Formats: sequence, C-alpha cells, structure tokens
Amino acid sequence: MSRRPVRTVAIDGPAGAGKSTLAGALAEHLGLERLDTGAMYRSVAWAALERGVDVTDTEAVAALARGLRIELTDEHVLVDGVDVTAGIRTGAVDGAVSVVAANPDVRAELVSRQRAWVVGHGGGVVEGRDIGTVVLPDADVKIYLTAVPHERARRRASERGRHQLAEVAAALERRDHLDSSRQVSPLPDAAQAAADAIVVDSTDKPARQVLEEVLAWL
Ligand code: DC
Repeated sequence: MSRRPVRTVAIDGPAGAGKSTLAGALAEHLGLERLDTGAMYRSVAWAALERGVDVTDTEAVAALARGLRIELTDEHVLVDGVDVTAGIRTGAVDGAVSVVAANPDVRAELVSRQRAWVVGHGGGVVEGRDIGTVVLPDADVKIYLTAVPHERARRRASERGRHQLAEVAAALERRDHLDSSRQVSPLPDAAQAAADAIVVDSTDKPARQVLEEVLAWL
C-alpha cells in the first residue's frame, strides 16, 4: 500500500524546543523547502526597532509589516535588501518580538504570506507557533515539539553564545508567557496542540533521534 507523499509539514512548539533543527533535517529528508515563520516576525520587530517605530503602536507596526520585503533562504534573511540574519537574533529583537507577534494585523499579513509561500513552493516544512492550527490546518503532518524549560534555555543560551543561563531562562519564560497568553493565535501547550499533531519531547534526545522518532510516524 503506498501512502500519499508528504508535501506539507507543520512544526509548532515553544522557543528552544529544537524546531529549526528538526525542520532542516525533515526538509532535507523529504526533499522540501523550509520556512521559519519566527524569522518573519523577528524581521518586522527588527525593522520597527531600526526605524524607530513604537512596537506598541499597532497600526504603525502593521503598516510597516505590509510594506516590508522579507526574503528568506536557508542561509539568510533579508529585509528590504538588508542582511538581517544575525540582527534578528539579538536580545533587543527577542525583547520586542512578542509584542509584534501579538498584533492581529501583523499576523494577518504574515499568515497570508506564509500560505502564499507554501502554494508557490508546492508544499514545505513550516515552523512556528500556529502552523498546524491556523496557517496550514490541512498540513499532511503536524508536529508539536517540546522540551522541558531548563533544556530549552540551555540550548538557547549556547546558540547565542550567552553564558548567563538564568538570564536567558527568564527571558525565554517571559516570551513563552506572552506568546501563550496573547489574544490572537496563542501558542498552545502540548495538551492543546492541534488534535491531529504528533507530540514529541526532545529533552535529552540528540537531533538524530528526534528525526527518527518523527520519521517513524510518516
Ligand atoms: O521561533 P522564534 O523564537 O524565532 O519566534 C519569534 C517570535 O515570534 C516568538 O515570540 C513567537 C512568535 N511567533 C509567532 O507568534 N508565530 C509564529 N508562527 C512564529 C513565531
């Protein structure tokens, strides 16, 4: 019996759960392209900070988002032609991005771009917070990836070359709280993930093992 080929994969979960690593490995395995939707929200936050737009001014930030050219490749993120690959991963952007991501008009704009991206690419591996629930409710495969908070903080701190684990853990907890308590498309917890999502806990697992666990479901 041959199964329908997997064309669309949604990966959701909190920061530091290992979504990007899994998305890269799955995309390669399935021969699909990948889209990091967090990088899109970060790009809007970066542009607001760069241009002095108050991130709490919802209309101004939404107008900014609508006019922004965001280009994502596997290696780089460009905003209106400026390479922001490193610039969107700073503490300043970490601090501003939850407010930007809670803006309903920004979400509407980015969700429509994300859907267009998937149509244009004939599918893809898309990672974020609302992919299986909102962006691609009909995705072929939905994964909710999680890990215990101290593991997520440890990974995030080492990714960023930051050594103050307690500081990174506090920032992550603050962001998770904002992302999961906002009005529009809040990040669900594992128990509230899309009913048809595979829940995978990556705590203490090497990336290869997480990939194998997911592949076993396909
Ligand atoms: O995955 P990340 O840390 O790069 O995401 C950055 C922020 O954007 C994070 O605070 C959650 C938010 N986000 C979102 O609300 N919806 C998405 N689909 C992706 C990210």
